[in-house]
Amino acid sequence: MQLLIPAILCLLGSCLGGTEARQYESILMVPNRGPWGSWGHKQFCPSGYTKGFELKVQPFQGFWLFGDDTALNGVRLLCTDGTVIESSVGGWGNWTKAQLCSSNRLVSSSLRMERWQYLRDNTAANNVRFACSNGTLLEGWGLSGGHFGPWSSNCTSGAICGLQTKVEKPQGKWDDTALNDMRVFCCKWGNWTKAQLCSSNRLVSSSLRMERWQYLRDNTAANNVRFACSNGTLLEGWGLSGGHFGPWSSNCTSGAICGLQTKVEKPQGKWDDTALNDMRVFCCK
Ligand SMILES: *[C@@H]1O[C@H](CO)[C@@H](O)[C@H](O)[C@H]1NC(C)=O
Ligand SMILES: *[C@@H]1O[C@H](CO)[C@@H](O)[C@H](O)[C@H]1NC(C)=O
Ligand SMILES: *[C@@H]1O[C@H](CO)[C@@H](O)[C@H](O)[C@H]1NC(C)=O
Ligand SMILES: *[C@@H]1O[C@H](CO)[C@@H](O)[C@H](O)[C@H]1NC(C)=O
Ligand SMILES: *[C@@H]1O[C@H](CO)[C@@H](O)[C@H](O)[C@H]1NC(C)=O
Ligand SMILES: *[C@@H]1O[C@H](CO)[C@@H](O)[C@H](O)[C@H]1NC(C)=O
Repeated sequence: MQLLIPAILCLLGSCLGGTEARQYESILMVPNRGPWGSWGHKQFCPSGYTKGFELKVQPFQGFWLFGDDTALNGVRLLCTDGTVIESSVGGWGNWTKAQLCSSNRLVSSSLRMERWQYLRDNTAANNVRFACSNGTLLEGWGLSGGHFGPWSSNCTSGAICGLQTKVEKPQGKWDDTALNDMRVFCCKWGNWTKAQLCSSNRLVSSSLRMERWQYLRDNTAANNVRFACSNGTLLEGWGLSGGHFGPWSSNCTSGAICGLQTKVEKPQGKWDDTALNDMRVFCCK
């Protein structure tokens, strides 16, 4: 039955899957971690980034002697490409409704963790918060045991694109805690396109597709590049269509292009990012 679940979710239009193989730039962790359980697999959005989350929460079981609370049991991340990803998930509780960043990017997280309860009922993680790239903070609909710890660091480029959770297996008649820890992964902006080659084997000039300054709207700066080959063929990159191609650079007067230098804006946190802004190429004789 377990194997059927992803297929059914796909039919319903939200594929629960994700991939294990994606290059990530950094791992974000928090210092307040539960001691129990074992790590599930790393799971990644197949493309794009995460824009929201859902939590699996077991409601408070009441003040009776044998009530065994587990609080937070799972975290799902919603990807911008429509995929829903989860790592290890506990068996108790129900999924909350999705909570989404209007900026479509999660960039850091924090865990609400209960300290060890000595001889009393332990629950470990109770709730999660995520920060959006535009500075909005989203607090999950988890429980109120313990305290929120410090935020993880922010993704320095790009946004959160994967997660891994640590969940304690059911303990039978002993105390259950379910989710104990979570790590998230940052992926950089953008993907490299496939190579485009001159059959004449020489690039001799270039031109940039640049968006003008957008006043109060989102700026992107450079959107695409063209190169001219020594035999006159023009190659246009698989970039985006914002703005217009400017004039061509002059041609190498002898030889061909043999080097480059690019100007890129550092990540601006919650401010507008533009990435690549300028490029120079060098001719060798
Ligand atoms: C980006 O790269 C990943 C893995 O390399 C790939 O799965 C994904 O489809 C790419 N995304 C786009 C928008 O090309
Ligand atoms: C939680 O899910 C279980 C079954 O998965 C269902 O029986 C129960 O009614 C749900 N509880 C709530 C509060 O939705
Ligand atoms: C983030 O975006 C949302 C919706 O566009 C907006 O309501 C919110 O004020 C923004 N937050 C910040 C800190 O800019
Ligand atoms: C993450 O970014 C937010 C806003 O962009 C900032 O307030 C916060 O200090 C940053 N956190 C860290 C750990 O750098
Ligand atoms: C450049 O070379 C390619 C492949 O050899 C050829 O198809 C193309 O027509 C050439 N362009 C010019 C302008 O000669
Ligand atoms: C560069 O060379 C191409 C063809 O080889 C020519 O059409 C173009 O005018 C030259 N550009 C400049 C700026 O000289």
